Amino acid sequence: MDDKPDISNAWQALTKHCHQNSNLKIKDQFATYPERFSEFSLEAAGIFLDYSKNRITTETMRLLCDLAKAAEVSRHREEMFCGKEINITEKRAVLHTALRNIHDESTPESVLVKKELKRMADCVHSILGGKWSGYSGKLITDVVNIGIGGSDLGPAMAVAALQPYGNHIKAHFVSNIDSTHINETIKYLNPETTVFIVTSKTFTTQETLVNAITAREWLLNKAAIEKKTIEKHFIGITANPTRAIEFGISQENIFSFWDWVGGRFSLWSAVGLSIALAIGMDKFYEFLEGAHAMDKHFESAPLEENMPVILALLGIWNIDFLGAQAQAIIPYDQYLELFPTYLQQLEMESNGKRVCVDGSDVSYKTAPIVWGGVGTNSQHSFHQLLMQGTHMVPVDFIIPLQTHSPIGNHHLLLYANCLAQSQALMCGCGEEDVIAELKLQGMSKEQIHNLMPHKIIPGNVPSNTIVMDKIEPSTLGALIALYEHKVFVQGIIWRINSFDQWGVELGKRMASKLVPMLQGESEATGLDGSTQGLINLITCHPRA
Ligand code: F6P
Repeated sequence: MDDKPDISNAWQALTKHCHQNSNLKIKDQFATYPERFSEFSLEAAGIFLDYSKNRITTETMRLLCDLAKAAEVSRHREEMFCGKEINITEKRAVLHTALRNIHDESTPESVLVKKELKRMADCVHSILGGKWSGYSGKLITDVVNIGIGGSDLGPAMAVAALQPYGNHIKAHFVSNIDSTHINETIKYLNPETTVFIVTSKTFTTQETLVNAITAREWLLNKAAIEKKTIEKHFIGITANPTRAIEFGISQENIFSFWDWVGGRFSLWSAVGLSIALAIGMDKFYEFLEGAHAMDKHFESAPLEENMPVILALLGIWNIDFLGAQAQAIIPYDQYLELFPTYLQQLEMESNGKRVCVDGSDVSYKTAPIVWGGVGTNSQHSFHQLLMQGTHMVPVDFIIPLQTHSPIGNHHLLLYANCLAQSQALMCGCGEEDVIAELKLQGMSKEQIHNLMPHKIIPGNVPSNTIVMDKIEPSTLGALIALYEHKVFVQGIIWRINSFDQWGVELGKRMASKLVPMLQGESEATGLDGSTQGLINLITCHPRA
């Protein structure tokens, strides 16, 4: 059966609608339709989405939902949840949702998940409770997760976001092959009380293996202990246990996850061990439950009221019809400082694709450039571009109603700034307002004439505001799942495979050819002039 749903009619209708509404001003829509906020907002799994500050009308949303229906989003969603091999180039199912469906025992995957969660819980209780001690019998105080990409970004982000729920364990994250990363991490650690968690789905990733070897050397040298004792200080998290055993990690310290869990979707699995150690297993279960609540919403809500679907469609509207090429993520919460970086892999490694599942080239834009930073700092960094630049960059603002750090009116000011920025992006500041402002400042006509063009803010920049009561395990889980499902829906509509990442292989292959040249083990020949010249630079200078 041709799996190529015909979305052309829906797409053409949206193109026509876009042309007909090219002069739409978001702020005017509120003036003519006071119910706009309630019509264009949704609540699910503890997350509130205000999407009323988008360049949309009721008709826009109807046509976008028609596009989702034409792309058969519902059918594809069911196929994902029931384990069909929708990762077609790697012939794998995509079942990160099974990782947080912790009360289910109806599928082979759920039985595996339950078993591994139990092993995780035993490990967490043993380390936190002191039963698992270091080689000298001391309580473990520090865990170092060694991993990269999905084996690092999710856990690091979640540990940072959930610091208020922390305990005596300090979790550190080493990912970069730049030796500074591991050096600056282990410099102050005590080998007696440190456990390294080597996290790698393949257990072949160069950065992770090199860092793990360095960690092992450090431990052996610092602790002057024989090899077998390091068992107590190394845990492996992988879908390739054989490799982990070859590295020297004992079987009972190896936790599995499976090929139906994509790396960038894996923090719900044993990859999240550092999260569970940092916040305790009960809070980790709450984290899973929050994601599961969003899963249930995604599975059951009608498309028109389905938060991940709406977020996905708004992104497609901004990118493929309004021409946005980037998407800013600006959490107004210091604990979510790493969230934009985490989303970069989730969105750009999933949907940074140019070929459809049938091998044909896409004829539209796919994933945007996802970037961002924490507010209010972003206001003193890149908001100038958002306000007066030449790129239209949609923004997702994220803010909790409650802070974990109630001091004076800090949170009230943070909240005001967040709302003001989305308001300013929408309303801008036109010629009349600028002139009035400058007159009030007592400027002359000539001064106003000269300055006015520089102070105009066009406005009409779309934004979403995502609000939760508090950044806690359940709402963080739901927030992450929201974006996972948004990425999935966009991939379905763009007809791309969101679950492979062939584009990262070429760079790895090229690096493996350059290493022996840099080491002087092979002739540096057959290279382009730039690479050749750059190799000469380093080979002509003694390495430290
Ligand atoms: O970036 C490529 C990639 O394969 C990611 O998809 C993955 O999360 C990361 O490298 C690490 O891979 P592994 O967990 O196998 O070490």
